[in-house]
Amino acid sequence: MILPIVAYGDPVLRKKGEDIDADYPNLQGLIEDMFETMYKAMGVGLAAPQIGKSIRLFVVDASGFVDEDEEDEEQLTDFKRVFINPRITEETGEEWAFNEGCLSIPDVREDVNRPEEITITYFDRDFKEQTEIFTGLKARVIQHEYDHIEGILFTDHLSPLRKRILKGRLANISKGKVSVNYKMKFPNR
Ligand code: NI
Repeated sequence: MILPIVAYGDPVLRKKGEDIDADYPNLQGLIEDMFETMYKAMGVGLAAPQIGKSIRLFVVDASGFVDEDEEDEEQLTDFKRVFINPRITEETGEEWAFNEGCLSIPDVREDVNRPEEITITYFDRDFKEQTEIFTGLKARVIQHEYDHIEGILFTDHLSPLRKRILKGRLANISKGKVSVNYKMKFPNR
């Protein structure tokens, strides 16, 4: 089932998500719905707050992601994961800039600096605990989604000047004044 994606300005995007248990109601169905919703919107990641649930869950699948000027493409082919109750325990390496976007903030793309490597401990969809190290674009996608379950948006990382420049567009998005080809829920419409 395709779920509406919550737009910028909704308070749920600012809440810190709660850990969940293995017996969370219809967890497998929710995960399937999140993947379906993400694919439909052509996203590479989707976090539970973006569909209105303030829980520590996000899904990623960047296997179809093609960046023309990146040779990273190949290393993304088996990058489909479900992250439940994740904790990033380490972020290391040089900060690098990547042009990020977000399904909750359509039509806005900005360069964001983040460290290149992360260590993350999480439960997979079978509730098996996993610890993995990710670098480059994989780390980037996870860092962005992880921010969502902490109540942080990529625009929070921008300079005061960029934030000021974007202010009007962000306000318009919260009012639904944006053209988007997937289902959204606008807080100030
Ligand atoms: Ni996002």
